[in-house]
Amino acid sequence: MQKTDIKQIDVKVSKPYTVYVGEDIGKLIGETLQGERLFVITDSNVYGLYKGFLHSLSENVYFFEAGEESKNYKTVLKIYDFLIENGADRYSVVVGVGGGVAGDIAGFAASSYMRGVRLIHVPTTLLAMVDSAIGGKTGINYHGLKNIVGSFYQPESVFVDVRFLKTLQDREYFSAFAEVVKYGVIRDSELFDFLERNVDGIKQRDSKILKIVVERSIKNKVEIVESDERESGERAVLNFGHTFGHAIESLTGYRRFYHGEAVAIGMVKAMEVSERMGLVERGDVERVVNLLKLLKLPVSLPDGIDEGRMFEIMLKDKKNKNSSLRFVLTKGIGSSIIASGIKEELILEVIGEDS
Ligand SMILES: NC(=O)c1ccc[n+]([C@@H]2O[C@H](COP(=O)([O-])OP(=O)(O)OC[C@H]3O[C@@H](n4cnc5c(N)ncnc54)[C@H](O)[C@@H]3O)[C@@H](O)[C@H]2O)c1
Repeated sequence: MQKTDIKQIDVKVSKPYTVYVGEDIGKLIGETLQGERLFVITDSNVYGLYKGFLHSLSENVYFFEAGEESKNYKTVLKIYDFLIENGADRYSVVVGVGGGVAGDIAGFAASSYMRGVRLIHVPTTLLAMVDSAIGGKTGINYHGLKNIVGSFYQPESVFVDVRFLKTLQDREYFSAFAEVVKYGVIRDSELFDFLERNVDGIKQRDSKILKIVVERSIKNKVEIVESDERESGERAVLNFGHTFGHAIESLTGYRRFYHGEAVAIGMVKAMEVSERMGLVERGDVERVVNLLKLLKLPVSLPDGIDEGRMFEIMLKDKKNKNSSLRFVLTKGIGSSIIASGIKEELILEVIGEDS
């Protein structure tokens, strides 16, 4: 394959690296890492679907049972065993292939094995491509707490091939569009317009369209990460829709909604707060609602949600400093602000409102 088919996005953080977006990335990985010892970490589903590709990367392939339940220290210990038994040393390269779960576990194992070995990400879900593989956060769940143990650990490169998305289940695929729409709303109105114009191509998983969507989303995440590598300020805009979203996930026992679906509802609520504060027009709220609906995402709270409980959970959300509600709001599609001290009644009204 011609190298020109591959787009490169440089990530200028403390340890700079490159994200490659293209097709036939197996070949590119082989060329880039010729002669290096690779240790591939993946999950059982990705292994079942892409065995040939994985073994073409390395003879050392480890897979764990797919799913969030595996994102724990037991899996990390098994990965250490695999690395030790196969003679991984401090020059070896850990390659995480899969969704956010595989990336987070492989990243954490790589960051701690021998005090940190080289790490490559090959994201295979849309969420991993546009979000979790970019930004250097790794993590595992412990004691029932999500991502409570982890590290900031940048990979040395990320290889993205949108053709992996062809095998993704519908719900998995569409729910990740919540994060893509989010980039559009908080900082990239052109991306938002592009999504509106290309819903059919997105539904057909047209590689050409997906390459544009994924590349543009990665650029947005990269720019935010570059401005705030360790999440001390600007990176908070990525939480647009998430304060409501986390509360919805918590109230529904983390079962009813995929994360992206809860975020989609949360974004509609954040749009409504923005509207009530006079920051956006009703038309903007409607554009977001319509786009999310077209992308098969929910836009309103499920019946039976206890409004008071939801509000309490939001208050407890770790992103709120000093218990005053802190929200990422929009000033129109493509621009965001972090607002604090929003009146409680306003939030309660928005929770009670049917979108
Ligand atoms: N590190 C970060 O910055 C960050 C950011 C966002 C989310 N996350 C984490 O990401 C995780 C969620 O990621 P996810 O949604 O990718 O979940 P996931 O890794 O569990 O993948 C979802 C499902 O898709 C399957 N799959 C993966 N690639 C596939 C393919 N090409 N075709 C068919 N099936 C495929 C997986 O086996 C799994 O069953 C959460 O644990 C979350 O905490 C991390």
